[in-house]
Amino acid sequence: MNNLPDFKAWAAAGQGRIEATLQHVLPSPQIAPQRLHQAMRYAVLGGGKRVRPLLAFAAGELSQADPERVALAGAAVEIIHAYSLVHDDLPCMDDDVLRRGKPTCHVEYDEATALLVGDALQSLAFQVMTDHKLCDDAAVQLEMTRLLAMASGSRGMAGGQAIDLASVGKELTVPELEFMHIHKTGAIIRAAALLGFKCGTPMDEQDQAQVDKFAKLIGLAFQVVDDVLDVDASTADLGKTAGKDAQHGKPTYVSALGVVRARELAEELRLAAMQALDGFGERALRLRQLADFIVLRKS
Ligand code: IPE
Ligand code: IPE
Ligand code: MG
Ligand code: MG
Ligand code: MG
Repeated sequence: MNNLPDFKAWAAAGQGRIEATLQHVLPSPQIAPQRLHQAMRYAVLGGGKRVRPLLAFAAGELSQADPERVALAGAAVEIIHAYSLVHDDLPCMDDDVLRRGKPTCHVEYDEATALLVGDALQSLAFQVMTDHKLCDDAAVQLEMTRLLAMASGSRGMAGGQAIDLASVGKELTVPELEFMHIHKTGAIIRAAALLGFKCGTPMDEQDQAQVDKFAKLIGLAFQVVDDVLDVDASTADLGKTAGKDAQHGKPTYVSALGVVRARELAEELRLAAMQALDGFGERALRLRQLADFIVLRKS
């Protein structure tokens, strides 16, 4: 295993592959309606850590999935994620002006365009899921498409966002925070990992359950760390305005537990996620490295 590229090189290769896939599946800015297509490309291309597609690639390594297929599934997940960010930043939600180091979509374009960018990206994600052969068994591909729909909708990300908005100015208990975070952020992260390995050879139920456990824990850890970084990192490092959660009265793991305990909890979640991968040996190397990246990241 010594001749494997280090994590940075592996991640850069995955990011390059996903960027190319996104370029390819997004409508050309020359096609009408040009402004909407330009805004969609603005929201998706050339930014972001691409953690979700990387999780898909890493999970795909467990099932010998074809990276070309995983790239398409990963792109679909990233497109949903990008749509969720465009809507999250709107004045009616978090009212943010900076995203991925650039003006947010509604600032660069306008609110109506940003709304439509989200709508169109959501549709595009499902078009990507159905335009291409993503795995050998069509029934599994249908299941994958349903999984992404569930993760994005009212029982997943959109539902979590509704809870987030309804919680402004309130104090939530830790179980309530967990419920909110698992939905608004965890669901899409979980879907990324599940979609990645479902592109490959079917895995036995026990192995699938372990990947699922890993993905749930790391999805929650991701948002706990996002809460910490909001108070702990700079706007320049984050590429989005720091300190917004407290300013907007958002209940977070930091407001409930304090930064130190929130960081400890993220570390506990990382260790528990690692444990879920114990049975996979070296095949889960990239998933382990991603778990480290998610919890130790600075932006
Ligand atoms: C930010 O996600 C929004 C959350 C769900 C916490 P990321 O931190 O993955 O944002 P990008 O994609 O790297 O910009
Ligand atoms: C966003 O959570 C979760 C989404 C579904 C987009 P946040 O509102 O904390 O994300 P940031 O901090 O704006 O990236
Ligand atoms: Mg938000
Ligand atoms: Mg936000
Ligand atoms: Mg945040």
